[in-house]
Amino acid sequence: MTKDNSLKETKRQIEFMHKAGKIVEQRSKALSRPLYAMTVTFGCQMNFRDSEKIDGALREMGFLKASSEEQADVLIYNTCTVRENADKRLFGRLGVCKAYKNKNKNMIIGVCGCMMQEKQVVDRIKKEYPHVDLIFGTHNIFAFSELLYKKMSEGGFVADILESTDKIVEDLPTERKYSFKTGINIMFGCDNFCTYCIVPYVRGRERSRKPADIVDEIKRAADDGVKEIMLLGQNVNSYGKGLDTDVTFAKLLKEAASVDGIRRIRFMTSHPKDLSDELIEVMAENENIARHIHLPLQSGSDRILEAMNRHYTREGYISLTEKLKKAVPDIAITTDIIVGFPGEDVQDVSDTIDVIEQVGFDGAFTFEYSPRTGTAAAKMEQLDKGFVQENFDRVLKTVHKVAWERSRRFEGRVMEVLIEGEDEKDPERYTGRISQNNVVHFPKSGYHVGDLVQVRLDECRGFYYNGTVVP
Ligand code: 5AD
Ligand code: SF4
Repeated sequence: MTKDNSLKETKRQIEFMHKAGKIVEQRSKALSRPLYAMTVTFGCQMNFRDSEKIDGALREMGFLKASSEEQADVLIYNTCTVRENADKRLFGRLGVCKAYKNKNKNMIIGVCGCMMQEKQVVDRIKKEYPHVDLIFGTHNIFAFSELLYKKMSEGGFVADILESTDKIVEDLPTERKYSFKTGINIMFGCDNFCTYCIVPYVRGRERSRKPADIVDEIKRAADDGVKEIMLLGQNVNSYGKGLDTDVTFAKLLKEAASVDGIRRIRFMTSHPKDLSDELIEVMAENENIARHIHLPLQSGSDRILEAMNRHYTREGYISLTEKLKKAVPDIAITTDIIVGFPGEDVQDVSDTIDVIEQVGFDGAFTFEYSPRTGTAAAKMEQLDKGFVQENFDRVLKTVHKVAWERSRRFEGRVMEVLIEGEDEKDPERYTGRISQNNVVHFPKSGYHVGDLVQVRLDECRGFYYNGTVVP
């Protein structure tokens, strides 16, 4: 898509925001109260960023933020379908919100995101949840304002789902959930087709944003006072493919690190097969790049890695983590692990456990394999649930043991903490994170949310630290 076309589309959508805004004003006058909206987000950082764009549009239209789903006049569910329990959660919520709509007949309920790219899900919603007013997918989230306006002005059921897109619409308004940190999309979609994963089917082919557009967005965020950014993509290490420059993710990261005011840069997610030496070098050379990498392992068995179509071996993965640790001292490495992939036996699970112990992960999300319609692995013979549960428990036990040992390693050290908010359990304390992403709680002492402070990590309590500010 050309820059001109992208700008045209942005302008069109902003016009719809203003038109919808007029309706909001009229309804609000008639009701003698403001109108409220809420976005409920499931899933990954990508979805959270998409929701910030939806919230930006809603705010532009004049909706205030609802404090509960029940209070909302417009309620949007942004869905995830990476595992089956995410699907179940949505249907549960849709059942509950029917009662809200019975009380507020004009309530608009919308559903968007990854689940909407699956035909059987959309059919089920239409049939079993007729109180849903608006459905759209991942490829036309930019058109949310147009679709909501259509619903508000014409009524009826509005559904618009595109099979795919090459569109990247820049510069739409967004509302950041946090003033001091934000996600920045650098690419959309995924071309890897790991055999268990539905993402390539629901998020489409890989498309990279132009480096200049990304850097502009980072500069604007920094001007607004943002201190920490997270560069987002399903596989950031393959950023740049298909662009007419020789930019790589490492080069983009280096440029992002040089933007004034950006004190911390994170990125997510890295695929081990594409992690370059150039990237490790850039991490080592730039102190404001977080000392943390999330590097999904998925399995420690070569046989299973091959069946998963991951394109690396256990030894390759281990040596990558060794390189990272050597070049970037104090780096925290976290991972994702799937247990119960078709064909996985006791030895494969032992191999995974062995890699967890050798690498010494700082944290790991462990998932039970969940067959997703349309993926290659869903067609393979599935394992017995009880057997998978036993293996899952073994892996989880190891993950907890290793992560517990690893996370104590900063005890006693003074480290820089970005203050993220009040400690939920104690209003006299703040909660923040160190560069490695570990959480730290400490007594407030004249600082503010969004400040970077030096904190002594006095005591490790498993997965968080208690500390004191060092003036
Ligand atoms: N079953 C279980 N876990 C999955 N993931 C992706 N697809 C599946 C699936 N079908 C996990 C992977 C990925 C993370 C985001 O979700 O570990 O890294
Ligand atoms: Fe899914 Fe693999 Fe793409 Fe990650 S790299 S989104 S696991 S297909």
